[in-house]
Amino acid sequence: MMPEGVPARDARDLGPPRDGDLHESVALITGGAGFIGTNLADRIAGEGGRVLVYDNLSRAGVARNLTWLKQRHGDRILVEVADIRDAARLEAAVARADRVFHMAAQVAVTTSLVDPLTDFQINVAGTLALLEALRKRPNPPPLIFASTNKLYGECLTRDQLIEEETRYRPRRLTPRRGIDEDCRIQFVSPYGCSKGAADQYVLDYARAFGIPTAVMRMSCIYGPRQFGTTDQGWVAHFISAILQREPITIYGDGKQVRDILFVDDAVNAYLLVQSHMPEISGQVFNLGGGPRNAISLLELLALLEGLTKSKPMVRFEDWRHGDQRYYVSDTSRLQQATGWQANVCYARGVAQLHQWLSGFLGTQMPPRERVLA
Ligand SMILES: NC(=O)c1ccc[n+]([C@@H]2O[C@H](COP(=O)([O-])OP(=O)(O)OC[C@H]3O[C@@H](n4cnc5c(N)ncnc54)[C@H](O)[C@@H]3O)[C@@H](O)[C@H]2O)c1
Repeated sequence: MMPEGVPARDARDLGPPRDGDLHESVALITGGAGFIGTNLADRIAGEGGRVLVYDNLSRAGVARNLTWLKQRHGDRILVEVADIRDAARLEAAVARADRVFHMAAQVAVTTSLVDPLTDFQINVAGTLALLEALRKRPNPPPLIFASTNKLYGECLTRDQLIEEETRYRPRRLTPRRGIDEDCRIQFVSPYGCSKGAADQYVLDYARAFGIPTAVMRMSCIYGPRQFGTTDQGWVAHFISAILQREPITIYGDGKQVRDILFVDDAVNAYLLVQSHMPEISGQVFNLGGGPRNAISLLELLALLEGLTKSKPMVRFEDWRHGDQRYYVSDTSRLQQATGWQANVCYARGVAQLHQWLSGFLGTQMPPRERVLA
């Protein structure tokens, strides 16, 4: 069934380019109905570009993102509801693209532990199908891949960290600026393995076949149009839970630290990297909020208590496999290559996400709950 607001004609197989389309460039965003993909599509279409969203809508709630994009941008948003593992449809989509952003993925460590095979098929085989579709083009367009900090595994072990009241802190002042791209990679969890394998394939297709590619190894991205769950998207999940008076489960002690990055800054990074191709092709960049936007789970809860004026209901459970105690990105390489920097501090970004979720959940809830919220 098609999501509400998405015209049926957009959902069928797009086939070869139509006459009018040949003259207008199309940015292909796989996973374009998801959180980061939607924000990226919104920016590109808002600046007059045309976007082809390729997504199987498997993530709960993302059909609403598609409806929102169509309402805002009409014909500037083309839609292909299809699976990344469907090589023929993917090839037809790639044939029309002048740039590709690869976001579609199985995104949760927890799900990858339940079903590692499907995780592999989507994240590794799906990425390889995309790369092969690009390789068939005489002049392949650039590809930017959404990778993850999970590749670095437990980059700082427990004895390298000091446990403070609300957070872990590195024992030595290095890495003062965070973890850089020279950190040894160590895939942890099936999700870490599948994203890691895809990351390496993307880099190697630049070396082996000269396809312009770049990899963004991202820390936690947050912002509007994110439907966080206990499995992925913890900043949005915490806010939604508090707004809906639901308990939050913290896995571990809550002192784990991440450098969170507002989605507008992430979108800036993707567009800057794309505009600097091909001189930065074959490179990997860490992307996150950096040390100034490093926050622990407990510290975020305290911030949210102030914002929402209500005390979160929190319970603790055991650590989850693959959960890093401390991960903060060093984004110097990206800054030097493109001039990028994080503009939105976490206090402002979290307040903005809180405002968006309050409005969103208010309109999604039945009237009685809306009054209570
Ligand atoms: N959000 C973060 O903090 C973060 C951090 C590191 C890496 N990443 C990576 O960034 C990318 C985007 O993340 P997000 O937070 O926007 O996730 P998201 O779940 O909101 O978006 C992913 C999209 O991919 C689609 N999808 C899933 N399986 C698919 C398939 N088989 N075929 C086609 N489409 C499929 C989903 O329906 C969804 O719309 C992912 O690759 C993720 O691994 C995200």
